[in-house]
Amino acid sequence: MSRISISVPSSVANVSCGYDVLGFCLGYPCDEMTVEIKQTQGVEIEHVNGWSIPTDPKLNVCGAVAFEMIKKLNFKYGFKIKIIKHIKPGSGIGSSAASAAGTAFAINQLTGNKFSKLELVKFAMYGEEIASGAKHADNLSPVIFGGFTLVRSINPLDIVTLPSLNELFVVITHPYIELKTKDARLIINKEIELEKAVVQWGNLAGFVASLYSKNYELLSKTIKDVIIEPQRIKLIPNYKEIVDSASKYALGSGISGAGPSIFSICKGKKNAELVLKRIKEITDKKNTTYSLFLSPINTSGIEIIN
Ligand code: HSE
Repeated sequence: MSRISISVPSSVANVSCGYDVLGFCLGYPCDEMTVEIKQTQGVEIEHVNGWSIPTDPKLNVCGAVAFEMIKKLNFKYGFKIKIIKHIKPGSGIGSSAASAAGTAFAINQLTGNKFSKLELVKFAMYGEEIASGAKHADNLSPVIFGGFTLVRSINPLDIVTLPSLNELFVVITHPYIELKTKDARLIINKEIELEKAVVQWGNLAGFVASLYSKNYELLSKTIKDVIIEPQRIKLIPNYKEIVDSASKYALGSGISGAGPSIFSICKGKKNAELVLKRIKEITDKKNTTYSLFLSPINTSGIEIIN
């Protein structure tokens, strides 16, 4: 095989209580990527539908991943990577993670599947570093493993796959502003009050337990962030109004990744539809343009199209 086309999903990182460690994979939207082996060295990148993404492979998320894999594989040739981006960059639903994870997955398929999923996340982290200035894996892990994941440790990398509850649906509210992850990370205070840390790890542990015990009430109680979100809310237009309105039917809402999107987790599709309707009533009245969509949790991750 010298060419592969894949569908690479978006994802929600942090999930309020798990900054940089917790994440889940969305069914929609997905990027389409085609990667092929070329007979000359180097990496070529083409973005079919624009956005302001660098195509110079040295500055591009996909390029960073491809170069690391070429080096590790001692690969004689190069790769041509074509991306049809449906996950808007800077939207908070793992656009750069999708490009990085898709590159790692595709190159692995084209070179004899030598790497485990964990190793693919490691390669993809070189891409995330370019995009956000930090090697985090909370978007990459669910894209590569599917479902909910916990990055227990980054060094050494250790990823725990968590059970997914098939009644869960997610509403994403995306304001049309671009928020760079790098910038949203820079504003975070590096000092944490112990009392807040205790609340946060209590919630994270409770969230994980709720997935294993299928306890929706517990899950709902744990989607809270007392450390990061309070510092980032000022970057998200109409945050409180949207979250308050979703709370009637959603189990919980929060900032998706570094924002500006907001996720609302719901039990059942019907509740998700009601949440979407309520939020739309608000966003339709605002000057900011919004896109809203509803997605199940994607337990498969990246899929091969052909
Ligand atoms: N955990 C990351 C953050 C996710 O909140 O900055 C964004 O990619």
